[in-house]
Amino acid sequence: MDAAVWVIELVLLILPAYFANSVPVLLGGGAPIDGGREMADGNRVFGDGKTVRGFFAGVFAGVAVGALEGLLLAGGNWDIYQGGAIAYALAGLLLGLGTMAGDLLGSFIKRRQGIARGKQSVMLDQLMFLAVALILAYPVAAPVLSPSAIVFLFVLTYFVHAGANVVANRVGLKKVPW
Ligand code: CTP
Ligand code: MG
Repeated sequence: MDAAVWVIELVLLILPAYFANSVPVLLGGGAPIDGGREMADGNRVFGDGKTVRGFFAGVFAGVAVGALEGLLLAGGNWDIYQGGAIAYALAGLLLGLGTMAGDLLGSFIKRRQGIARGKQSVMLDQLMFLAVALILAYPVAAPVLSPSAIVFLFVLTYFVHAGANVVANRVGLKKVPW
């Protein structure tokens, strides 16, 4: 397969996860998922950066982008999945859920390590959401997710996430550039 086609298909595949990961910055806020509770170590379970609204906004964004891709791509030249439009919506749901669950897991581990809300942890901030998203979406996306595709997505995500956060910081959406 042509390398450019391979890259474009993987970008299209992972797009619902990227939207799920960024939408909470815009639409999040309100009540924290952990209800303010702390663990025995004296740190919050997840912290104020993980809100109920942000979680559902992220999952919804994944489904919405997946469904839109289904309408645009299913049956066409750029078809990623063989299951028609519904496969895209399902992949979007799994990627959205996985992204938001991985984001929570990352924050949970950061709090256990004593890293304050909003402080950087490259692996946990940038790559944990992708790891969990790919695990959940694997049943649907397995034919496309070869070992080299998975490596490519981790490298791509590292740079896209870093770049996106610098932009979000510059335009005033995030206080810190990560
Ligand atoms: N956000 C949200 N709900 C979520 C995830 C994110 O409301 N479930 C919003 C919050 O406003 C959060 C912002 O998106 O501050 C950026 O997300 P992120 O960088 O993941 O959170 P941090 O505030 O950096 O917290 P942490 O240290 O736990 O990663
Ligand atoms: Mg952060």
